[in-house]
Amino acid sequence: MPETLLVTGAAGQLGRLAVEHLATLHGGPVVAASRDPAKLADLAARGIATRRIDFEDASSLAEGFRGVDRALIISTDAIERPGQRAAQHLAAVEAAAKAGVGRLVYTSMPKPEPGSPIVFAADHHATEQAIRRSGLAHTILRVSWYQENLLGSLGGILASGSWATAAGDGLVPYVAREDAARAAAAALASDKAANETLDVTGPRAWSTAELASLIAQVFGRPIQLLQMDDATLAAQLDGFGLPGFLVRMLVSMDRNTREGRLPPVTDVVARLTGTQPRPLEAFLQAQKAGFPVAA
Ligand SMILES: NC(=O)c1ccc[n+]([C@@H]2O[C@H](COP(=O)([O-])OP(=O)(O)OC[C@H]3O[C@@H](n4cnc5c(N)ncnc54)[C@H](OP(=O)(O)O)[C@@H]3O)[C@@H](O)[C@H]2O)c1
Repeated sequence: MPETLLVTGAAGQLGRLAVEHLATLHGGPVVAASRDPAKLADLAARGIATRRIDFEDASSLAEGFRGVDRALIISTDAIERPGQRAAQHLAAVEAAAKAGVGRLVYTSMPKPEPGSPIVFAADHHATEQAIRRSGLAHTILRVSWYQENLLGSLGGILASGSWATAAGDGLVPYVAREDAARAAAAALASDKAANETLDVTGPRAWSTAELASLIAQVFGRPIQLLQMDDATLAAQLDGFGLPGFLVRMLVSMDRNTREGRLPPVTDVVARLTGTQPRPLEAFLQAQKAGFPVAA
């Protein structure tokens, strides 16, 4: 009997991509779950089962994992209130175990253990620990930072011709969201039983200086790198009017990079999916039309 595979957060960007890939990878039933299944109407129209799972709603959790053999739990975006996201994830893991789900795949972050400067690392560490304690078979995917995260600052960098950073010489193996989704779908579709914790990375790790040079080359705009300490960067981001939690998050991410806490490049995407991950150069080239500020 083919196994039933479920993806939580299927209306999110990663979740939707993972469901799309599973629909072609897996011969058996695929269930797309979201807080708002109405957002999955197009998937339902294509014959993919949809259901409601909200990690904040115990009754949706009790029902949501029924009859599911393997589940991809996508970490939520509830990072503003400390502790909220960990509580959501722990409720999901507990509900999955209670419902008899046989295997979990979870989207974590690189090196979330205590000592991480990242403000949201504790959520991922608590979730990883809960999954390991649950006794369920699992694959924990420690997804490196998305290439797409750069879109948040690319416009400002190109407009000003400068990049304020506290990341020092640290390296980031940026991964395409699409590749993270392909890896997650492949991990869920695999019937491998071993428990694994895998670093999901792109094909190359970049220092901020190397990345600034690449952006300059692709967009034809010189970029001056402004290396600064955490407090100066925080003051600068604060001056842009960013909310406090976002300033703390961005500074913590630079510090994390500076401290060398991102993994080296791995072959996990290629190993799980059979195809090479997209290089950052290709991602930036594809953004050229969206950022016409280039000289
Ligand atoms: N590696 C990185 O660089 C990076 C960057 C950004 C985010 N992330 C993490 O990776 C996750 C997926 O990335 P993304 O790009 O798909 O983010 P996204 O588009 O912002 O999606 C947010 C996700 O959170 C889910 N969610 C929110 N509240 C929930 C709740 N109460 N119960 C269940 N699910 C809930 C949403 O599911 P529904 O709307 O379907 O309910 C959706 O899947 C993010 O949520 C975040 O934890 C990683």
